Amino acid sequence: MDAPGAGLGAIPDRPGPRDATRGRLFGRNVLEAVFRAAPDEDLFLGELLVGVDEGTGRRYLFRVVDVTYGSEHREPGWAERVAGTLLVDDTLGESGAHPLHDAGRRTYRVAECRCLGYLSPDGRSFLKPKSLPTQFSRVVSPEPADFAFLRGRMGDLTVGWLRSGESEVEVEVGIPGETLASHVGIFATTGMGKSNLMQVLAGAVMTRQGRYGLLIVDPHGEYRAALSRHPWAAERLRTYAARSLPGTTSLSVSLGELSVDDLRTAHDWTRPQEEALFELERHYRAEGLSWLADFARVEDLAGFRDAELSGRVALNTLQVTQRRARRIVGLSCISTDPAVSVGSAVLQDLRDGRVVLIDVSGLASTEEVLVASFLTRRVLDAWSSAYLEDPAGHERLPVVAVVLEEAQRVLSASKDRESNVFPRLAREGRKFKVGICAITQQPKLLDDELLSQLNTFFILGLADEKDRSILRGSSKQDLSALGPEIQTLMPGECLVVNLAAPFAVPAKVHLYDRHVANVASPPAPRPRAAPNVAAMVE
Ligand SMILES: Nc1ncnc2c1ncn2[C@@H]1O[C@H](COP(=O)(O)OP(=O)(O)OP(=O)(O)O)[C@@H](O)[C@H]1O
Ligand SMILES: [Mg+2]
Repeated sequence: MDAPGAGLGAIPDRPGPRDATRGRLFGRNVLEAVFRAAPDEDLFLGELLVGVDEGTGRRYLFRVVDVTYGSEHREPGWAERVAGTLLVDDTLGESGAHPLHDAGRRTYRVAECRCLGYLSPDGRSFLKPKSLPTQFSRVVSPEPADFAFLRGRMGDLTVGWLRSGESEVEVEVGIPGETLASHVGIFATTGMGKSNLMQVLAGAVMTRQGRYGLLIVDPHGEYRAALSRHPWAAERLRTYAARSLPGTTSLSVSLGELSVDDLRTAHDWTRPQEEALFELERHYRAEGLSWLADFARVEDLAGFRDAELSGRVALNTLQVTQRRARRIVGLSCISTDPAVSVGSAVLQDLRDGRVVLIDVSGLASTEEVLVASFLTRRVLDAWSSAYLEDPAGHERLPVVAVVLEEAQRVLSASKDRESNVFPRLAREGRKFKVGICAITQQPKLLDDELLSQLNTFFILGLADEKDRSILRGSSKQDLSALGPEIQTLMPGECLVVNLAAPFAVPAKVHLYDRHVANVASPPAPRPRAAPNVAAMVE
């Protein structure tokens, strides 16, 4: 396990003893605290601090949500005038000509905090804030024991260290694997660490030895090399690729297994185009989309339209449909032979609790969605049938989640149709133990109701206020004061928000490449006992 970079117990450059006073509480209410700190006290947005109530022995956990300047001078404009004087001194090359007397008393910093809760005096339970600490209580840096309550609640899929401002704290943060079924959202502006987080999460799933499964559809081919370096990859990772790549099984989907619904999910169809699809389906009466191959071969489209479809479809509509059909039939991962399809193999891998990586790099976005839709439907159907027909068997199935990058493509309000399997998964998957893990840069494009189905949020740096505000509205924890913190998150810094955690937990996600080097390999299989030769001879 990689050690935290700068954790509690390893904050070297903070002077004084561990419980040195960082401020004194002076105001506000049960949920909000304001304290005064020295003018040079280095306070960070998102920093976790403790208000020590000497009277009750309670330790109140605060999160810094804003830091401002304060001064005891009541004359209006005093601070601006001082800044002006110092500026003139600088210009004249006389810096220091007007030292600020007694600066420690006359100026200070004011930290605005949210109270996250308090630790009972025995340190065992963490309770929601319902009382005020004594006014002027000391504010100190937390000790490792202050976070002991978190250890039992952070679940078995760990992704990083607890973070206090910019420091890492030696408490692992993650989610319970069971909560994959109640859906996960990973949100961040580009480059803030979504894929890295997903890789760390997939690595954690692999080490859980079959308890959970993931179906990751990777459009950019960025997971294959990374995940194959994981020490558990040989046992727990299976990669299917749409093009010929070393160490992968070739992704092959038979037309007969695809459905018109997959096609409707992947492409944007106009109403007449959809009607054309149904006409064609009715005409060919073939299994799934196996008719696409015949339709793609039709040369005289106008003749075909008049003779076979009684002229019911406009020619240009038919042309568009055929262009799409030809493109799909021509894909190397699409086969007319039902025997070569990977659908059943993927299901078996998931039943065995594997991470299944579908590398669709090289496919267009629509084709990627076509494949993802097909596989998701297969998984949802298999798990829901087991739930309905074989409850004991369903009990034994691992919790699985379908991971989709750029999830706004299939989870936006305009895409929420009966034919689209992804909204169905978000609404119904939970009871069948199938979740969706939606990765997106733009949560504002997701349908509100679907967003509210995602019970776990990983929120990384999000630059856009609209995105932040939409998440505030759907989050399972109060994020109302965290806008500035979310805006200033660095790559890999995140908030983990779910019902298992007592508040939106700040974390620093492991950097996958560094983390994977420290993951212990699976135990070697025990050698079989040698046969007792003497006994055999007798
Ligand atoms: N946990 C982390 N610790 C340190 N650096 C990180 C971390 N996560 C990401 N980074 C840095 O940010 C870069 C981008 O990360 P990543 O590719 O995961 O972002 P992304 O959100 O998936 O971007 P995109 O939207 O382009 O797909 C990484 O190459 C790495 O340098
Ligand atoms: Mg990415």
